[in-house]
Amino acid sequence: MKKILVTGGCGYIGSHTVVDLIENGFEVISIDDNSRSTTYLLDGIEKITAKKVKNYKVDLKNFDETLAVFQENEDISGVIHFAAFKAVGESVEKPLDYYENNICSLVNVLKCVKEFDIKYFVFSSSCTVYGNPDAIPVTEASPEKKPESPYGATKQMGEQIVKDFSIQSSGNSILLRYFNPVGAHPSCLIGELPLGKPQNLVPAITQTAIGKLPQMIVHGNDYPTRDGSCIRDYIHVCDIAHAHTLALQFLIDKKNQSTCEIFNLGSGNGTSVLEAINAFEKVSGTKLNYVIGQRRPGDVVAIYANNNLAVNELKWRIQYELDDMMRTAWNWELKIKEDENLIRQQNHVLN
Ligand code: WQD
Repeated sequence: MKKILVTGGCGYIGSHTVVDLIENGFEVISIDDNSRSTTYLLDGIEKITAKKVKNYKVDLKNFDETLAVFQENEDISGVIHFAAFKAVGESVEKPLDYYENNICSLVNVLKCVKEFDIKYFVFSSSCTVYGNPDAIPVTEASPEKKPESPYGATKQMGEQIVKDFSIQSSGNSILLRYFNPVGAHPSCLIGELPLGKPQNLVPAITQTAIGKLPQMIVHGNDYPTRDGSCIRDYIHVCDIAHAHTLALQFLIDKKNQSTCEIFNLGSGNGTSVLEAINAFEKVSGTKLNYVIGQRRPGDVVAIYANNNLAVNELKWRIQYELDDMMRTAWNWELKIKEDENLIRQQNHVLN
């Protein structure tokens, strides 16, 4: 059984990927300093998989501590690197925190991958590298644009670091460019736990619907789109998670043509903010309290993926539609309301 290290394994996409890896026969360990995540999701992983996943609570900016984890686990076959700060707005306010955390962590992990001659490396990237695309849907060959935020810059830099590393390395890498991951595991045992006031659309919708937020603001309805609101490619987190397992297997089976391959992970469908709200109201049976507000600086007008490469090369089959995304997100919000006190007790990070 191949052992895979997932960095950020206690986080949103990381935890769902840990579940998918275990369900597909891999042994998994995690490194997560829980600075932006919770041990609550580790419990959920155990309930779903009946496996207790060991998490090393290590700051990846500390090379010696990171190396010690690899020394203790010399049988690591592959690494999937999620651990990073990812709040666009916060990255504008605290750019140095983002460059230090996201870049230093990545470099330290890659130094260990090199040290232990690990052959498979998967990097969590983002559609943010495309900026405001000239043409949609975007393919992996679509031009990258100047990043709209330091967060986006760390993703572009991260991709370049992995590409350059892969040329020298004896192993191979894959860059996975997520579009907008949303929803929660159908068991309601793991899902997204945003810190503080949610920036992203779907947690903002569900927290408004459950009463945690008084009202949601739609950031602009005067864009040149079919209903004036921004268009995005929403993709269920479980579909994203399974794509990581497929990417790893793709490298294990030596299907890659180059040392570093890139795949778009999006549904291939564009959905506007107002359409997403309508889908939520339909599946939840609740009316969302929202107002139309100002445009949000840095927002892309419209983007969605051409996902043919992931479908054809990784044999990726998307299982969840928009309604499933909204339904699982809402069921998760209802679930964490029940466990709110437990989550607060376990994790100081949530406020
Ligand atoms: C989507 C749309 C908002 C909240 C971000 C990151 C990207 C990726 C996905 C990591 C926009 C609108 C939102 C609200 C709103 N993350 N919105 N009211 O900005 O497309 O992408 O998350 O890889 O890197 O940038 O996602 O969910 O923040 O916004 O109207 O309260 O919803 O303006 O049009 P985004 P988002």
